[in-house]
Amino acid sequence: MKAAVLHGIGDEIRIEDRPDLQPGPGEAIVRLKAASLNRRDVWIRLGQYAGLKFPIVLGSDGAGVVESVGDEGGAWGGREVIVNPSINWGPSQSSQDQKEFQILGLPRDGTLAQQVRVPVANLIDKPRHLNWEQAAAIPLAGLTAFRAISSRAHLVSGEKVLVTGAGGGVATFAILFAKALGAEVFVTSGSEEKLAQARALGASGGANYRSEGWDKELKEAAGGFDVIIDSAMGEGLSKLIELANPGGRIAFFGATNGNPADVNMRRIFWKQLSLLGTTMGSPADFAGMISLIELKQINPVIDTTFPLEDANKALDHMQASSQFGKIVLQIP
Ligand SMILES: NC(=O)c1ccc[n+]([C@@H]2O[C@H](COP(=O)([O-])OP(=O)(O)OC[C@H]3O[C@@H](n4cnc5c(N)ncnc54)[C@H](OP(=O)(O)O)[C@@H]3O)[C@@H](O)[C@H]2O)c1
Repeated sequence: MKAAVLHGIGDEIRIEDRPDLQPGPGEAIVRLKAASLNRRDVWIRLGQYAGLKFPIVLGSDGAGVVESVGDEGGAWGGREVIVNPSINWGPSQSSQDQKEFQILGLPRDGTLAQQVRVPVANLIDKPRHLNWEQAAAIPLAGLTAFRAISSRAHLVSGEKVLVTGAGGGVATFAILFAKALGAEVFVTSGSEEKLAQARALGASGGANYRSEGWDKELKEAAGGFDVIIDSAMGEGLSKLIELANPGGRIAFFGATNGNPADVNMRRIFWKQLSLLGTTMGSPADFAGMISLIELKQINPVIDTTFPLEDANKALDHMQASSQFGKIVLQIP
């Protein structure tokens, strides 16, 4: 089988022939039709991720057909599936197992290949309304957005939501899910074009985080927010705390702009705010997300599609951050 392999920090990815994969007990081999990228793949190529290991087949997201299953694999053979990249989440809904949890695509070989080996517990039937590219766009970003909005922030219909960095993979899912759950959604972005794209997706308004006074613009437009979904952190957190309504929830899953240097903790307790850390999601979150996608016939936002052999170009495209939505790879 062909696989896109990264051999070291900053290297070009090479397309290589590898022996076909064999399933162990409780595992399945999925013949992938499409995969998609996450910011994580860029961090790994840059050497800025914990637990680096080379050579590695990157990729946490994939969809395809189950080719074979090992003992105790059940009746998955031949089914069209999406792969849940949260491996060994563990029994708790509150958090992942701190020792056993892994994300597909490091240390385990991932989805930028014709085959991937995963536990059968990580398979779910592909919703019928989605094509392969749309299905492959969902897993990591969709799961992270769904858990942040639903299981952590407990968003309810009619609430006002702010999604920061609207162009991001997770952010576009957050917009779609919040809308599907009946919220009024506002966004920030570093680009006017992406703000317009977010409006086309259903956002009621937005502001450019590069412009002076973006927070005041949002305050005037929306009043305040019950739920804020963020992955930028940094100095922006203080503004998000001011933009949150009393009793508001700020769920975050990244810190692209680093740690905030100065946060007024008194504002957090006085306004009864909840600051909610979140990462990926449990099997129940994954199933809940797929149910919502099926129920509301949600279509993921795809920015660009590349053939697998152009994996380097696809990663460069993500590193440049010009995308709105997910970057997908078609697997031959
Ligand atoms: N903990 C987890 O489970 C988990 C899961 C997924 C992702 N993450 C992390 O979350 C972050 C986003 O991941 P992704 O895959 O969605 O990446 P992505 O598709 O590359 O999106 C990153 C987005 O960050 C936004 N951004 C950059 N600077 C910003 C700022 N100052 N204020 C607000 N937004 C800003 C940009 O939005 P615009 O383009 O609109 O300007 C950009 O599109 C990364 O740090 C990633 O590592 C964590």
